[in-house]
Amino acid sequence: MKKIFFTTFIFSLATALMFGSSAGAVEKQTEKAEAQQIDAAAIGLSANHPEIPQGVTCNDCHEVKLDAATTATQAWLNGAYLKYAAGQGIMPQEQIKVEIEKVMGGKKQKRTCVLGTSLNNVPLTTTADFAFDPATMTIYGLHEKGTTKLFHIQQNPKVSLNWHEDFKSWGTVLCAQFIGTAELIDGTKPEFEKVLVDIYPYEELATAMKIEPQQAREMVKKGMLLSKITCNQITVNSSAFEKGGMRKYQRWEQTEK
Ligand code: HEC
Repeated sequence: MKKIFFTTFIFSLATALMFGSSAGAVEKQTEKAEAQQIDAAAIGLSANHPEIPQGVTCNDCHEVKLDAATTATQAWLNGAYLKYAAGQGIMPQEQIKVEIEKVMGGKKQKRTCVLGTSLNNVPLTTTADFAFDPATMTIYGLHEKGTTKLFHIQQNPKVSLNWHEDFKSWGTVLCAQFIGTAELIDGTKPEFEKVLVDIYPYEELATAMKIEPQQAREMVKKGMLLSKITCNQITVNSSAFEKGGMRKYQRWEQTEK
């Protein structure tokens, strides 16, 4: 509620300054405009919904309820769905971690993923190769400096990533969705070198360029930035889970540290 009043106050103030309206008008507006909690599934705004300035999200004014228990995703994950009773067919978190590692290949493997970033309410998707570290549930990518996605991450570290195996046939779906926070690490940081040595398979670059691995590392550290995505939610969809009596949708969540 504090957020709503504050935001409303700023807008009212801006209006007052721009149009020179009286203090009374500001008060009246503050009283009228009260943004209630809305459901994440809320669609369609009424014709008299207050104008939404560019760069402002629903969440800036409303408290958005994200735990709507009736959404399809929740039903697939843990609700009463097909042969599963509510709460049945859910893997223990440790097992889901193992499955995520299998999907991404683990250390020194990479997958070509779609990375979603967003700035001022404008989304952007970019493909890039990423390596997953199961020990820390972190994902690393190497990127050319000065690209739009990196600018997005600098301004808004919230990202989503997806790896999806090409469709072969019904009943063999395999994909994983990651939600997390990204940070960019430059080549002067010791962590960059460590990730190259332990997790990211940069060696193929050395092979392709016919140079020593160490030379390749130096080159990458000079020319590229490392993205580090700390995951807080990972959802896997695998038809194969069903053969083991588990739901095909399983979700790992970072618990509060
Ligand atoms: C600048 C602040 C602000 C933003 C941003 C905003 N709202 Fe609202 N919203 C309000 C206020 C204030 C009301 C109450 C308006 C009234 O009843 O006079 C409202 C009302 C609503 C309502 C109730 C009926 C109506 O007017 O449509 C819904 C639903 C709603 N908002 C959804 C959204 C969604 C979805 C978004 C994002 C796309 C959003 N709002 C963004 C301030 C905002």
